[in-house]
Amino acid sequence: MVSCSTVAILSALLGLILLRKYRESRWGYFKCKKSLQGKVFLVTGANSGIGKETVRELARRDACVIMACRSMSSALSAIEDIRRTVQEGTLIPKQLDLASFDSIRAFSNSVIRDFPKINVLINNAGVYVCSKEARVTTDGYELHFGVNHLGHFLLTNLLFDKLCESQPSRVVTVSSLLLQSGKIDLENLNCERETPESLAEMRSNQKYCNSKLANLLFTRELAKRTTTVDVTALSVCPGFSYTNLFRETPRSWYQYILFAPIVYFYMRSANQGAQTVLLCAASDEIGKQHSGQLFRDCKVYKPKLRFPCSSATQSKLWDISTEMVGLRMK
Ligand SMILES: NC(=O)c1ccc[n+]([C@@H]2O[C@H](COP(=O)([O-])OP(=O)(O)OC[C@H]3O[C@@H](n4cnc5c(N)ncnc54)[C@H](OP(=O)(O)O)[C@@H]3O)[C@@H](O)[C@H]2O)c1
Repeated sequence: MVSCSTVAILSALLGLILLRKYRESRWGYFKCKKSLQGKVFLVTGANSGIGKETVRELARRDACVIMACRSMSSALSAIEDIRRTVQEGTLIPKQLDLASFDSIRAFSNSVIRDFPKINVLINNAGVYVCSKEARVTTDGYELHFGVNHLGHFLLTNLLFDKLCESQPSRVVTVSSLLLQSGKIDLENLNCERETPESLAEMRSNQKYCNSKLANLLFTRELAKRTTTVDVTALSVCPGFSYTNLFRETPRSWYQYILFAPIVYFYMRSANQGAQTVLLCAASDEIGKQHSGQLFRDCKVYKPKLRFPCSSATQSKLWDISTEMVGLRMK
């Protein structure tokens, strides 16, 4: 005989599983299995998390993927892992450190030389560091701003002519809804000036939020500046996903227990996080009419509040970034 308590426990477990399945169904899934043979995709941060799963799914559809990774050994391990499940597609590892303008220039030159076209550039790589000491890139920029925004800004600009030659082409930049807590202070982009709220901001990683807002403003401004060419600029929030992003965030055992329910209901696998990136990169239903939009859960994201920035700030951020990375204004 099955006791009442056993029935109650089993019903509760079933309820939890169904609730999780319901949430997963709301996140959306890129179902299209159409072949991407002949198309070239470039993914930054392709060795880990959302980037690696994006590569896996593109390869499954027979695409050619340039995997831009900081470490070649991590790139080769990622390829080994992908090849355990997917044999299709062409995977080409290449070294790129987004924290160094020299590395970005060398990488871009070799891509321009070796590949006749790039159909889709996926600016995915990102850092999230909670550190008391200011961390900077090789060129002296605050790490989040330097890698997440400036690195991708320079890369996209250097590859822009190639993207134009490959029309129709796309630039997909991975942002985050944490951008809603972001601030763009044009006088203090590099976070050199300490402000009274700096300590509290450090706890919530204000610098990461700012860089993700910069990712969205970059996408919007790119869309504004590319109306005469068939290059589509899109931004994505992949959702809270189980990846290596928070590897430098210290956690104690009780935090694991406290956050377990949140993780169960809200955290996606890296593959689930990659679905909206894939939709923006490969769906035939996405086109120029979507340029400048932010996507989440496999659809256009409609914010409840206006995003915290004006189009004048967006345009100035572009001009200042151009100077910071040492490009000439067009
Ligand atoms: N996970 C989430 O919950 C979440 C939520 C919203 C948005 N996002 C965004 O999703 C994107 C992908 O992150 P993820 O969650 O997949 O994290 P991840 O597993 O840590 O992947 C980040 C990737 O970026 C690479 N990277 C970091 N610094 C780099 C540099 N200087 N040069 C080149 N590559 C560099 C990493 O390379 P190494 O392995 O060599 O460090 C890694 O391949 C990021 O833009 C992140 O902001 C993530």
